[in-house]
Amino acid sequence: MTFSRIVSTGMSVPENIVTNEDIAKRVETSDEWIFTRTGIHERRVSTEGEATSTFATNASRQALEAAGMDPMDLQCLIVATITPDLPFPASACLTQEALGAKRAAAFDISAACSGYVYALSIADAYIRGGLYENVMVVGAETLTKVINWEDRGSCILFGDGAGATLVTKSDRPGVGYTELGADGGLAELIHVPGGGSKIPTTHETVDQGLQYAVVKGRDVYKVAVSRAEEVLTRALEVNNLKTEDIALLVPHQANQRITDAVQDRLGFSKEQVASNIEVYGNTSAASVPICLHEAASQGRIKEGDKVLLVAFGAGFTWGTMLIDW
Ligand code: UT7
Repeated sequence: MTFSRIVSTGMSVPENIVTNEDIAKRVETSDEWIFTRTGIHERRVSTEGEATSTFATNASRQALEAAGMDPMDLQCLIVATITPDLPFPASACLTQEALGAKRAAAFDISAACSGYVYALSIADAYIRGGLYENVMVVGAETLTKVINWEDRGSCILFGDGAGATLVTKSDRPGVGYTELGADGGLAELIHVPGGGSKIPTTHETVDQGLQYAVVKGRDVYKVAVSRAEEVLTRALEVNNLKTEDIALLVPHQANQRITDAVQDRLGFSKEQVASNIEVYGNTSAASVPICLHEAASQGRIKEGDKVLLVAFGAGFTWGTMLIDW
């Protein structure tokens, strides 16, 4: 039988660090409020000239080098992002060029913070179906470029960066059970109103700030916790697993309180759950692959371990995936 496996990982974040104290100089907030409500102390914020493909390229290059693969042998490159360098072409095409992966098919997918899980499911289907033998799956974002730095409800949350995973054909199980979902009825919970075909950018829309993300944080919080609990419970049940069978739960890093609530409801221990929100904030589609890279590099996950991913975000979208590492 043909399976797909993650064989190497990479990550890249901007060098520029913005602390809670830095934000408190611009809007009425405090380190104490932000840390208690979100678990975030600091985040990496891209500077002029750095775009989503900058980080996607660095992270992908690292994953290729770790696997000893020549970029010319890469067959497909998928970038999950809601903050592409340009409205079009895809950041994946810009990344492909920067990598010198000239033979790879390249495209972006848009599923917000669930984007990496959606993209990994596409790579898995391509490989199992026989279209490709290797696919680079990247989550890359520069959300700090579309947030309103005057809005204390949203500017505290996000950070920039990318995580990349090289997925290849395998004869033993790797990427396994997958559930994806969406509810477009909740589209307004997190969205950018302007700049698309509905409200194209004009001087007026910019004056009104329609290019910035609108985040209904409290509503997102509730939906995130209930969806994550629901899909994780089902993932464990369907696969006949108990929480203790999971070496690492990798949740999307949206808010430490969301992670803690999900952890408690499912009965995971703190040691079983990946968390790096304190230093990166919410990096949207990049958060799960950045966590995977850190966990793998630190030896926290080893070959044969069961790793459970869960992500949720704008759309509303969500997804869970069970991986034999
Ligand atoms: O990945 C998906 C995207 N992620 C999200 O959308 C985040 C999910 N939501 C959250 O993380 C939380 O809802 C937030 C951190 C955004 C907000 O925390 P909360 O505990 O839900 O606070 P809240 O929005 O209910 O606001 C409570 C109070 C309000 O004041 P009043 O109305 O009670 O007087 C806010 O105005 O806190 C105020 N507030 C702040 N105070 C200090 C909101 N933001 C801040 C701030 N500093 N940065």
